[in-house]
Amino acid sequence: MKVASTAPLLFFDSGVGGLSILGPARELLPTAPVIYAADSAGFPYGTKSEAEIAARVPALLGRLVERYRPRLAVIACNTASTIALSAVRAALDIQVVGTVPAIKPAALLSRSRVFGVLGTDATVRQPYVDRLAAEHGSDCLVLRHGSAALVQLAEAKLRGEPLDPTIARDALSGLLDQPGGDRMDVVVLACTHFPLVEAELAVAAPRPLLFVHGGEGIARRIAYLTQEQPWPAAPSPGTAVFTQVDGDVHALQDALRQYGLERIDAL
Ligand code: DGL
Repeated sequence: MKVASTAPLLFFDSGVGGLSILGPARELLPTAPVIYAADSAGFPYGTKSEAEIAARVPALLGRLVERYRPRLAVIACNTASTIALSAVRAALDIQVVGTVPAIKPAALLSRSRVFGVLGTDATVRQPYVDRLAAEHGSDCLVLRHGSAALVQLAEAKLRGEPLDPTIARDALSGLLDQPGGDRMDVVVLACTHFPLVEAELAVAAPRPLLFVHGGEGIARRIAYLTQEQPWPAAPSPGTAVFTQVDGDVHALQDALRQYGLERIDAL
């Protein structure tokens, strides 16, 4: 099928986390038209049940694809991807790229053979994570911890609010205080919100830890899948679309602009 140069890339998350995927994608494909969708009415996903997410995400993606006719959709959310990626793929007739915990690179990088997976509560309990750990880290101790507070910290940071330093410290303690945690050398940021607070995590860490996430890899995947397709000659303003537009969304405007998202829409 012939793709118009104006057909956008669609990024989807519960909130601002997907910006950590959009950022590297914009660096590789600077003129790509972009729609960034956040399910603010359903936020946060990490404390929801599998059934709630499985019911919500494919339906929303369907509506977004109908409205914006993207060339490709990126589920820029580990929680939604580990639960609903195959259902979304089955429901849409465009390519769908998911975001799953960067366990493979972590296993390659860990010298101590102990690494952590820091995600949402919903993500860290997924069988998808068991499979990735068994496939790539079978000789490693894989510690897991879910933090809803760290998701809120990332949202607050992008709204320009003052940040509570105990949140990053507590999230890391959730891994470091487990048996074997004293040997952990690598932490997978298995929620797309967490790379947005990587600086706060690094400051809170009692010793140097290597943080890994999938943003750059996903950007390369998008570029690969669209390599035969035309792009506009110059960048155009992107649109951020929210399922609920309120004061919190307006407070994000400056941060969204830094990612080229000039317009705000309601779904
Ligand atoms: N950013 C999402 C993720 O990657 C979920 C955050 C949330 O809504 O709890 O898992």
